Amino acid sequence: MSQVLLETRKLKLAFGGLVVANEIDFQLHSGERLAVIGQNGAGKTTFINICTGLLRPDGGNVYFAGDDITGRTPRSIVRRGMARSFQLPQLFLDHTVRESLQIASASRQGKLSAWMGLGKASDRIEIDHMLDLIGLRDRQHEPCSNLPEGQRKLLDVAMSLMLRPQLLILDEPTSGVSTEDKHTVMETLMSALDEQKVTAIFVEHDVDIVSRYATRVAAWISGGIAADGKPADVLSNPMIQKEVLGL
Ligand SMILES: Nc1ncnc2c1ncn2[C@@H]1O[C@H](COP(=O)(O)OP(=O)(O)OP(=O)(O)O)[C@@H](O)[C@H]1O
Ligand SMILES: [Mg+2]
Repeated sequence: MSQVLLETRKLKLAFGGLVVANEIDFQLHSGERLAVIGQNGAGKTTFINICTGLLRPDGGNVYFAGDDITGRTPRSIVRRGMARSFQLPQLFLDHTVRESLQIASASRQGKLSAWMGLGKASDRIEIDHMLDLIGLRDRQHEPCSNLPEGQRKLLDVAMSLMLRPQLLILDEPTSGVSTEDKHTVMETLMSALDEQKVTAIFVEHDVDIVSRYATRVAAWISGGIAADGKPADVLSNPMIQKEVLGL
């Protein structure tokens, strides 16, 4: 059996009277591709924010590869091996695509020289490889502001991958991407994750994307996991179809 990479036990958080994490017990094994579905406001991003250290839970614990990481800083959690991307890409729009990857590389190494592109030859090779993986080598010297949304999303993910995580959590990697580009973005993203051997959780509203790319689906309702299992089972569950998918 593969390793339990991420685990939460009785994870709890309320904003005033609104319970956004209702004693969540959850386990993710390495190698999984978990899609998280749920209506707006169900608590998906909140769960990610707690796991990655942006929010502190009122109760319960988060474990990463066996270590209790509850309440640790986002920086320390990234160092431990869990990275995330945001619903809106967090890019430096004036920087070029290549500079963005240099910044991510420098951030991992804590070295200014790498930031300025003066890093080791191995850093440059790694960046070239990442540019090829996400199909942005020919746009590497353009400012990020030139990129369409799909490529911004891919660059954002690539910056997270430069941190060499074991687990990457993607909050809506295809939101804002045109319907015709969504599958291209997901194909590129999934092959990059496969190549880098990174386990992934992705929040996604599009059922076609979920059924095509997830190995498992967890459905969030009102701060809790209402169904969790194989994509075909969860997506055909009548309660999930009604309450989550609005069918
Ligand atoms: N800092 C905060 N203070 C108060 N309420 C918050 C805060 N952050 C989120 N909420 C509320 O908590 C609930 C869960 O929000 P969350 O962002 O986790 O939902 P979500 O499932 O990610 O939704 P979406 O699909 O729209 O991204 C929402 O009702 C939201 O308004
Ligand atoms: Mg959200």
